[in-house]
Amino acid sequence: MSLLSVHKISKSYKESTGFLGINEKKVLREVSFQLESAQILAVVGESGSGKSTLARQIVMLEQPDSGEIFLHGEPLQSEATVHQKIRMIFQNPAASLNPHKRIYQQLEEPLINCGDLSQSERGNRIRENLEHVGLSADQASRYPHMFSGGQRQRIAIARALILKPEIIVADEAVSALDVSIQAQILNLILDLKDEMGMSWLFIAHDISVVNVIADRVMVLYAGKVLEIGCVKDVLGNPLHPYTRKLLQCVPKMGASLKIVCNEKLSYPDIDPPSMGSVCVYRNRCPLADKICGESEPPMMGSASQSVACFKV
Ligand SMILES: Nc1ncnc2c1ncn2[C@@H]1O[C@H](COP(=O)(O)OP(=O)(O)OP(=O)(O)O)[C@@H](O)[C@H]1O
Ligand code: SF4
Ligand SMILES: [Mg+2]
Repeated sequence: MSLLSVHKISKSYKESTGFLGINEKKVLREVSFQLESAQILAVVGESGSGKSTLARQIVMLEQPDSGEIFLHGEPLQSEATVHQKIRMIFQNPAASLNPHKRIYQQLEEPLINCGDLSQSERGNRIRENLEHVGLSADQASRYPHMFSGGQRQRIAIARALILKPEIIVADEAVSALDVSIQAQILNLILDLKDEMGMSWLFIAHDISVVNVIADRVMVLYAGKVLEIGCVKDVLGNPLHPYTRKLLQCVPKMGASLKIVCNEKLSYPDIDPPSMGSVCVYRNRCPLADKICGESEPPMMGSASQSVACFKV
């Protein structure tokens, strides 16, 4: 049984289309995947592909319109369980830390809310966690502004770890950091995976980061999973035309998907109301033909590499 199993979740938002017009915008389309223990699954896709929306459904900040999410085979229902077992780290550590509270207080809050630890046990846990992320316990009395960006992200990680979660959802957790600090944090994430058996859903723009850190990778386009599998297979031998395009777009290590794909970043004409299911990529795909506009390609392949394309 998988640690986390996401089964066909879909999500739409209402958006205004001008004077009194309201449109349903599909942001996630029957997204399915599994995350195993001590595994890092990277999620890649250009801006607006639905990565953060997916993260919000998994930590139950929002409810999907349809589909289900299972943790150890049980449907995710209780926010309290999720709060303890799945934690999220956001891109900007400043946004997740309260500038007016000392670090100690911010690390203690989840322990008070969720646990039954005594004050001294809480103190020990906080000390342990700060040391885990390479900070010293005596820094706990400081306020967030007294730390560098990299240190603040370490504190955000310490806060996410404090309840010993099984899964961390990291939404662009290292994207805003300098390369050297990024490397430190990536090493920390790998250590935590090995030492604590923790699993990560790691949302990233940077393919070189995915290469270093992830066991598996999932490619999202317009809210649809187009390819998923082991990093060495998907990045070494991409099968979907979109994955190939993404990798062609990355001229060298460290390049970001955000800046290199200079095409229009809006997804053109995916869901004309007159049509049924179609391939979401067909309007940008060099291989598209009639069938691609008539039905939706199913996900085919094996656990090591699956792809949704009629021409593979
Ligand atoms: N609360 C909301 N209401 C309406 N539209 C939304 C809402 N949240 C997200 N969207 C839209 O859903 C789409 C997907 O957004 P999302 O933030 O999940 O993308 P993303 O892949 O995380 O992009 P980025 O790489 O820029 O962070 C976007 O078009 C966005 O405008
Ligand atoms: S199904 Fe058709 S349009 Fe979609 S990616 Fe494959 S070839 Fe291109
Ligand atoms: Mg995002």
